[in-house]
Amino acid sequence: GTRRWRVERRHDIDAFTPGLLSLYESLNPSEEHKAKQRQLIESLTNSVSKEWPNAQLHLYGSCANSFGNSHSDVDVCLQIDTAAEENIAELLLALAETLRKDDFDNIEAITSARVPIVKIADPGSGLSCDICVNNLFAVANTKLLKDYAQIDERLLQLAFIVKHWAKLRGVNETYRGTLSSYAYVLMCISFLQQREPKILPCLQAMEPTYTLVVDGTECAYFDQVDQLQDFGAENKESIAELLWAFFHYWAFHHDYRNDVISVRMGNTISKQEKNWTTRVGNDRHLICIEDPFETSHDLGRVVDRQTIRVLREEFERAATILQYDDDPCVALFEPYDYES
Ligand code: GTP
Ligand code: MG
Repeated sequence: GTRRWRVERRHDIDAFTPGLLSLYESLNPSEEHKAKQRQLIESLTNSVSKEWPNAQLHLYGSCANSFGNSHSDVDVCLQIDTAAEENIAELLLALAETLRKDDFDNIEAITSARVPIVKIADPGSGLSCDICVNNLFAVANTKLLKDYAQIDERLLQLAFIVKHWAKLRGVNETYRGTLSSYAYVLMCISFLQQREPKILPCLQAMEPTYTLVVDGTECAYFDQVDQLQDFGAENKESIAELLWAFFHYWAFHHDYRNDVISVRMGNTISKQEKNWTTRVGNDRHLICIEDPFETSHDLGRVVDRQTIRVLREEFERAATILQYDDDPCVALFEPYDYES
């Protein structure tokens, strides 16, 4: 069951805000990194448009959703008119071949993934790049995240710091059963939607001003975020308080047995309601994070019996450090050592 500990927030928590803010500043991507990204995107565009003149290239993920740091990869989605779904694997193999001819290095087509991709690891720039085909859900959720980021700057601050923590602590690796960066950003948005007073609204619950139909699913929400600039103003919580509360929520208050985090609803909803109560195939639903548009998709599906323990221990560790440590920023971001 869930342990619901009521811990009094330490009185001096706000003393750590300046340190966290300078960490946040330092994590923002450098001009050099952005230039390298632009260069890679440009040569990709050239290479692709020779072979598929009508293809459109969309950026998605953290190079376009404003949650990218200097280590982020480049995520690219090619929009190509094709016949049936089955052609995607072939298309990716053809794309890999084209890129090889154009002297891109370390090309790998991964056609068996949920979202099949071609991966490029460019040794020159140190950049890696994932290319998917016709995955417009990613384009829609990238815009959603970017729009949320413009409402209150505490979202970017919190998400950068949480992503940084997750990377250093080794819990940002979906292939090892922990959570994706995308999942952590959704956790941050959902958390800020539920502060009292609220720091973020629920854009999907408002009158839609943006709609993209993907495979018959309507991705719709209010995107005039310039009208929401003061939305979180009544809430005065600092980034240190929010980080403290974020980890306390995931360590001690979240109801892992019954609840699903839903940015779409701006609230938690029940597993019952989603039919995420029993294990179907490999989906275990031990921590449930609903994708805002692909609502049958649980971003926590990669988590298993063992990694849920690792995750919860890491949330508890972070919460405890922020509560008691004299210099929490050191211990919090101490790299996890796989050897010991
Ligand atoms: P970093 O590259 O770690 O900075 O973050 P990112 O935001 O680019 O995340 P990531 O590379 O993990 O994912 C890229 C994008 O894929 C996300 O931003 C989403 O738009 C999209 N996406 C959709 N579904 C999934 C999913 O189940 N897992 C992941 N990882 N990404 C998804
Ligand atoms: Mg990425």
